[in-house]
Amino acid sequence: MSAKNMKRILVTGATGQIGSELTMELRKKGHKDSVIAAGHKKKPSDKLSESGPFEYVDTTDRENISKVVKKYDVDTIYHLAAVLSAIGEENPQLAWHVNMDGLYNVLEVAREHKLARVFWPSSIAVFGLKASRVNTPQDSVLIPRTVYGVTKVAGELLCNYYHGRFGLDVRSVRYPGIISSETPPGGGTTDYAVEIFYEAIRRNHYVCFVKEDTVLPMMYMPDCMKAAIDLMEADASKISHRTSYNVNAMSFSAGELAREIQKYIPSFRCEYKPDFRQKIADSWPMSIDDFVARKEWGWKPSYDLTSMTKDMIEKLSERFAKNMV
Ligand code: SER
Repeated sequence: MSAKNMKRILVTGATGQIGSELTMELRKKGHKDSVIAAGHKKKPSDKLSESGPFEYVDTTDRENISKVVKKYDVDTIYHLAAVLSAIGEENPQLAWHVNMDGLYNVLEVAREHKLARVFWPSSIAVFGLKASRVNTPQDSVLIPRTVYGVTKVAGELLCNYYHGRFGLDVRSVRYPGIISSETPPGGGTTDYAVEIFYEAIRRNHYVCFVKEDTVLPMMYMPDCMKAAIDLMEADASKISHRTSYNVNAMSFSAGELAREIQKYIPSFRCEYKPDFRQKIADSWPMSIDDFVARKEWGWKPSYDLTSMTKDMIEKLSERFAKNMV
């Protein structure tokens, strides 16, 4: 099915880091009134609520999802609502409840209502110390150390099961850390790569919670949205993996990022005070091999460290100047 034929799209987690921009991007792509943004507790921005429908949805309540799906005749769901890795370690029970019950409910509603397609993001957190940390292959041993990673592995297997057992067209990518200027991430291990920009512009100073030489895979928001939309628009015959695809964009250390920012803000100083999130970062890959996604559905990112940093500084400086942050 091409994007043009998609009737109605529901985006859960639409007030979050990825959802707030992906909803706008899908609306821009011609789905304006047919993209229903769903948030849970957080009030939507004016931009989000004024550009199309908005609903409060608790994804741990299946009936709640079902009602919205029926009300808008939804046929596609981007299910982004989740608890991230750092908050997950502080509250594993909450992470399991939101991530697993939420996904199970979305898949069940999709099966019951015979929805056309579901997108669900997995993460580099699926890998653990048994997988090689450099150019981690698509098919690796998945024994994560965080509850967040556990919910992502279980989620991948559940998506794969719903595809095999019920024929549900569910698609997924393993996102690296996502960097963006619109909505800050909430409670992840890769959040430092976003916070550093805000603090560099605001205070010329940042205390980073991972060590200077910590390397993790990252991706800039335009590529993050492209990965989701490209995969969702790909012909089904090209999708051989119904767990989740590795998608790579860039890898750098916290120190390299700080030095790249210093090219624009020479007085910027970064200190390193690792906390509990260091252990999480050390259990994740430094770079991942996305050969399969490139070959099967043509995945190709546009941004690297240099172009991402330039754009982030420009966009955020503009937002700070307009008092939008
Ligand atoms: N960015 C996420 C986190 O840090 C990883 O998927 O939790």
